[in-house]
Amino acid sequence: MKNIDSNSHVRGESVYLDDIPLIQGTLYACVFDSPIAHGKLHSINVRDAETSDGVIRVITAKDLIGENQIGGIIPDEPLLADAEVHFQGMPIAIVVAISEDFARKAAKKITVDIDPLEPVTDPRVAAANGDLIVPPKKFKLGDTENAFKTCAHVFQGKTETNGQEHLYIETQGAYAVPTENGGMKIYSSTQGPTAVQRAVCRVTGLAMHQVEVDVQRLGGGFGGKEDQANAWACICAVAAQLTKRPVKYALHRMEDMRMTGKRHPYSSDYKIGLAKDLKILAYEVTLYQNAGASADLSPPVLERTLFHCTNSYHVPNVTATAYSCRTNLPPNTAFRGFGGPQGMFVIESAIAHAAEKLGVSASEIQRKNLIDDGDEFPYGQKAESDAVTSWVQGDEKYNFAKLQKEADEFNASSRYLKKGVAMMPVCFGISFTKTPMNQARSLVHVYTDGSVAVSTGAVEMGQGVNTKIAQVAANVFGLPIERIRIHPANTLRIANTSPTAASAAADLNGKATQLACEAILSRIKEVATELVEAGSPEDITFTDGFVFRSGEKTGLEWQSLVLESHLRRVNLSEHAHYATPGINFDWETAKGHPFAYHVYGTAIVGVTVDCLRGRYEIDYVKCCHDFGSSMNTSVDNGQIEGGIVQGIGWMTMEEVVYDTDGKLRSSALSTYKVPDIYSVPKEIAILPLETDRQNLAIFNSKAVGEPPLMYGIGAYFAIRNAVRAFTYCSPDFNTPFTPERVLMNIYGTQTTDGHR
Ligand code: MTE
Ligand code: MOS
Repeated sequence: MKNIDSNSHVRGESVYLDDIPLIQGTLYACVFDSPIAHGKLHSINVRDAETSDGVIRVITAKDLIGENQIGGIIPDEPLLADAEVHFQGMPIAIVVAISEDFARKAAKKITVDIDPLEPVTDPRVAAANGDLIVPPKKFKLGDTENAFKTCAHVFQGKTETNGQEHLYIETQGAYAVPTENGGMKIYSSTQGPTAVQRAVCRVTGLAMHQVEVDVQRLGGGFGGKEDQANAWACICAVAAQLTKRPVKYALHRMEDMRMTGKRHPYSSDYKIGLAKDLKILAYEVTLYQNAGASADLSPPVLERTLFHCTNSYHVPNVTATAYSCRTNLPPNTAFRGFGGPQGMFVIESAIAHAAEKLGVSASEIQRKNLIDDGDEFPYGQKAESDAVTSWVQGDEKYNFAKLQKEADEFNASSRYLKKGVAMMPVCFGISFTKTPMNQARSLVHVYTDGSVAVSTGAVEMGQGVNTKIAQVAANVFGLPIERIRIHPANTLRIANTSPTAASAAADLNGKATQLACEAILSRIKEVATELVEAGSPEDITFTDGFVFRSGEKTGLEWQSLVLESHLRRVNLSEHAHYATPGINFDWETAKGHPFAYHVYGTAIVGVTVDCLRGRYEIDYVKCCHDFGSSMNTSVDNGQIEGGIVQGIGWMTMEEVVYDTDGKLRSSALSTYKVPDIYSVPKEIAILPLETDRQNLAIFNSKAVGEPPLMYGIGAYFAIRNAVRAFTYCSPDFNTPFTPERVLMNIYGTQTTDGHR
């Protein structure tokens, strides 16, 4: 079944923030942001802006009625800079004007007097200064110190992964409309309606029942709107509160790139120890996360880096230490994979390093160490399925040895073009690692004409969650999908929502919807039993809008039954609650069972590198992916293709560049390269690994939003293998592997800061 939004998308009729009709009298906000990365803010001169054409008001920190604070996890993030500025792009003042143009023109007239302080952009420097967001986090399994002594081979090195710009097509933005008695309605492009509601309440001093947040859909979020939509909603809310008029702000692309955080860069040290037979006995990793100027979501991102630091492998002795380092960059934030990809890159680098030194294929080491049923992850949870099956089935279907042989033969007769192949297994845990967040509610109304309205806290951002939730309702009621309508996430209908994140939205909100629909169904089954004179409600089923008795179609239609139920005063509405069972995690011991289940998969990535020009093409990504049992293959395959391309972008071409002053140099699409139609793999093949194992996924259809991104990591190692087929060199583990970096590794005089 195709995505229920596809028709309105291609007609341009889908409604995003910018499509919401504006109320007469609406004003426009624009932010004046810090021109330097670190300094003491002495004064803000707004006089020229205030008298500029069309300006209604200029707002600074001192004007706020509520608290000047939007830090969700740690209160370390003022909405508007007051005493200090902490990054270039930090909001200082809000200009409110009668048009966007006037607002932006006036913002340019603001000047500030700032005493510069030394900016820190390097996480290792921040760590050395002791400037951490939270105390270091540690995972320990077994005893690495003693295990290393027994290893036949030990290798150490360093890796660097760069950030990544979310580049959602729809930029950040919000529209705040004052309602009666001091209330507020906020339209926001956010993954977290409740997060916006909470933040707005904090800065305006309103109570949560006075603030309604409504989210129709996003033009992409990718994690960038899990926490970072809050600031813009707060800016509109504060302006609306102070002017008593509706206020809208949709960021221009360059404002968005400059002022918002990105995927966290990490700088890491690893030490890996192997036995003679290539079993990994010990792994030690120290991870320095570049958090940016405030906590944002950095602590849980750091935690997931630890959760996935051994990827798909079972390693009996692990010590992993992670530092969240405060720097003078925009606060970095969630991005598809949520820290997991960064952790996985390090162990894949360690394995590639070992393979290179031992003269074996990395795939041999990978294959030898895949996690199996019952093996323990460093955080205490035992694997209930395994990484071996997807590897074996993927290999059977696509034949790694044959692909490698083809590459070797090609390389033997090609001077400058070289092919490289790499295997990339992925294991990703599904659930918010903060257990309390794994809950959701669904409100289902069946109307007397038989149509069904479903509201949940899930935010549609292109990933197809609404389609899946509609399928759930259609399936339970035995109705065609057209009879179901999914309404926007709205905090009046659904309260206290978890953000749509952690790939868990369909599971959590789908299960809540299933519960709600089943509750309604059981009530109207009673009525049906009487009407069709069945023996008991168990004999009643629903298919294609008709009531079936003991498997036989009756003449009773769904809508007649619904109407009759209403006349008999049966409740046709339900508000159901779902909380993932069986999960827990204790940070005191750093052990528990944090994930409902794991998603596994294995990709084979093949590339051709032009070793004269540095350019390359991704020839194929062939993966065997664990869907559980997909409830929507077209949506799920789309998630896999998109995730892979986004992962490849992160690993190969997207280069976030801040200079040492903390200024973003890659601040536009002219200087920041994302994958386009010419750079996607020539082939993406997906072999579904169908497992009949029971799991906690909705209809056994496992979460698919984030895991495929990590197949893209294979592109890095495939390029590395191609480069090594050209000349003996040992490319550093430093991403992205841009064409420029390919050339530097082949021809550069630099010795790498890698492991040599
Ligand atoms: N797909 C599209 N098209 N747009 C997005 O913004 N976000 C990703 C993923 N796939 C995203 C996407 C991220 S970061 C997550 S966590 C999941 O979708 C969230 O949705 P889900 O829980 O419904 O999978
Ligand atoms: Mo996704 S990074 O969990 O929004």
